[in-house]
Amino acid sequence: MLLEIKDLDITYGEEAPTVEKVQLSLNEGEILTIVGESGSGKTTVIRAVLGLLSGDGHVSNGSIMFKGKDLNGLSHAQWRELRGKDISMIFQDSGNMLNPVQTIGHQFIEYIQLHSHMSADEAEAKAVEMLTRMHLPNPENILSSYAFELSGGMRQRVGIAMAITFHPQLLLADEPTSALDVTTQAQIVKELMQVVREAGTAMIMVTHNLGVASYMSDKLMVMAGGRVLEYGKAQDILTNPQSNYTKELLAAVPEIGGKRYV
Ligand SMILES: Nc1ncnc2c1ncn2[C@@H]1O[C@H](COP(=O)(O)OP(=O)(O)O)[C@@H](O)[C@H]1O
Ligand SMILES: [Mg+2]
Repeated sequence: MLLEIKDLDITYGEEAPTVEKVQLSLNEGEILTIVGESGSGKTTVIRAVLGLLSGDGHVSNGSIMFKGKDLNGLSHAQWRELRGKDISMIFQDSGNMLNPVQTIGHQFIEYIQLHSHMSADEAEAKAVEMLTRMHLPNPENILSSYAFELSGGMRQRVGIAMAITFHPQLLLADEPTSALDVTTQAQIVKELMQVVREAGTAMIMVTHNLGVASYMSDKLMVMAGGRVLEYGKAQDILTNPQSNYTKELLAAVPEIGGKRYV
């Protein structure tokens, strides 16, 4: 088992837990999608796995085991070693994580060198390879560009390329396409699913709607009000939803050409 979360409660400040009794497990290479309306606790769960809860958020009960180790007990140094390498993250808008006054190439090469012993030339070749894998045309051009010169979709592909460079065992993606238009969303989710499948990377993708992601996932979790409403094989939940909330979510997904999309 790669990731095992048991009886997880997360509390902000001294209040009652915001998220309660989350259970989930992920094998190597498995893809889990978490869906639920805004405020249901999706980001809280994913940030807990990354050890980066915002504000005074903390794990108030339960455990998050990664490769048999409780993440809650890790030191700052151990987290630094794990993050960006074994566990890596794709953000809502990669434009926010990119430095506006440095070229993409500068940042990508620096990131690669931080986590490896590659020379600048080797790192650049690696960056080109990763951008090519994300179907970005003229990767050399992109490396010499600044974030603002790229479209949102291209920036997101750069973010994904960086996140998968070191074959993380676990990739966390928090609404990775919500800043994009619907057509680009579907495309990028498909590309992301493809590269993750090829690399055998496990992934948790958070989204607020049941779309392409859910249909391409192994597992699905539906959250509402800080609780898990449904969790299990995506196929089972999509074809036989148990809660009214999930049924409503499913009914709200538009059908395009007989297939449900984002
Ligand atoms: N830093 C914080 N301090 C206090 N409460 C927070 C903080 N971050 C999130 N919350 C609360 O946690 C709940 C779940 O938020 P979140 O995990 O962001 O939901 P989602 O990602 O599903 O929209 C919300 O009610 C929100 O107010
Ligand atoms: Mg969120």
